[in-house]
Amino acid sequence: MPSAPGVATTTPTSTTASIAEELAQKIRDGQLSAGEKLPAQRVLAQRLGVPITTVSRAYARLEQQGLATARVGDGTYVRALSPDAAPPAPGAPPIDLAHNVAIPTDEVEALRQVLAEISLDPACMAELLAYQPEAGAPQHRQAGADWLRRFGTTGDARRVMVTHGAQHGLAGVLRTLAKPGDTLLTESLSYPGLLALARSLRLQVIGLEMDGEGLLPEALDQAAHSFQAKLLFCSPTLHNPTGRTMSLARREALAAVVRRRGLWLVEDVVHAAVLAQPPPAIATLVPEQSFLLASLSKVMAPGLRVGYLEAAPEWLDKVAASIRADCWMVAPLMPEIATRWLHSGEAERLISLQRQHIAERLALAHTCLAGWDYAWSAHHPHLWFPLPEPWHASPFAAALRQSGVLVRTAEQFAAGRSRAPHAVRISLNTATSPTQLEQGLRTLVQVLESSPAADMAP
Ligand SMILES: Cc1ncc(COP(=O)(O)O)c(C=O)c1O
Repeated sequence: MPSAPGVATTTPTSTTASIAEELAQKIRDGQLSAGEKLPAQRVLAQRLGVPITTVSRAYARLEQQGLATARVGDGTYVRALSPDAAPPAPGAPPIDLAHNVAIPTDEVEALRQVLAEISLDPACMAELLAYQPEAGAPQHRQAGADWLRRFGTTGDARRVMVTHGAQHGLAGVLRTLAKPGDTLLTESLSYPGLLALARSLRLQVIGLEMDGEGLLPEALDQAAHSFQAKLLFCSPTLHNPTGRTMSLARREALAAVVRRRGLWLVEDVVHAAVLAQPPPAIATLVPEQSFLLASLSKVMAPGLRVGYLEAAPEWLDKVAASIRADCWMVAPLMPEIATRWLHSGEAERLISLQRQHIAERLALAHTCLAGWDYAWSAHHPHLWFPLPEPWHASPFAAALRQSGVLVRTAEQFAAGRSRAPHAVRISLNTATSPTQLEQGLRTLVQVLESSPAADMAP
């Protein structure tokens, strides 16, 4: 067996994640090259003083990441990315470049550890089984307030409540601020969860013009005046679906319109959570007229259902009353997990792993899509892809679906009667592995290079 030099530098306390990460790094750096055999699992486990299952799981993780292949009865080999990955086999489940879900990294192991920790703390468990204040337990609110400081907020826990994800916070805010028939202003392309909620609350949605930075202040000013609108939903950082981020000057200009027109700003920074240093939220410029929504869904796991809402305390009381009417309170186990991760540094580690995986997938996408024009942002798992003529978004997505790949079209984000561009959003985070992502992107290029079926109907 060829030895894998330097593979075994991890310590006896190595976890699945640390072994997998060390090997992945060596593969990426070229210290382990394509075709090279990894040490037998038993040998590596002995060398590291860990159970063989820890090494098996680490190897399985490398396979999931598309960095290694197991050969039955032989061993695990470093994999080379093929220059032209095969398209999905007919009848195979579709390759999902449509949904928007955090890439699984080390959350399962982190959850196992934190649940074990909680299980050894009966007083904490008893508290988790009790009713809680509607806005969340004080320590959960404080953990959220501290985490939200990255968006420029003050860390004041009285201004923060815990929600079951950003969507829950959004529902609470809109139900508190709006009544049926009210107008809601938003970017011309906006988050479908907002559009669905607005429909269910019977709000009139008006989509506003955007440029390369996002929402235009002049468009907001004009619409606020002509529709006598009071509500704005806006996503200034890593906007969904375009990935655009506003400059500081744009944020200030929008805050000025919000102030002058007496608007309520509902600001969504869900995707900005991935950034180590996100730009300040617009909400920090108009804190008394703003509701800031953040969550851990896109950087850890959506099943956590942990979100934080920042707003003036008197408004939080009103939103909390709406949550009480729904379900009394947020179930405290999930914010307890998040709070422990935030305190121990595990949250930051998971976020930085997320960034690392997104960076790998972006690099792969740039290779597969070389020569095509599209917009992307560092640390963001979406590409915004304007389609070349003669493709329109819906026939393109349909042709792609027939080839076994799913994407979202611009129309699925169109706010109100806004006209959608001929563009699709490509999510890089939901494919089950880089290999599958590569297959999906190569198929996408093949479809792009083909011709749409002609509609010859007279
Ligand atoms: C812009 C935006 N806001 C909010 C959400 C929902 O987040 P959560 O899972 O925290 O409810 C999503 C999910 O796709 C999103 O894209």
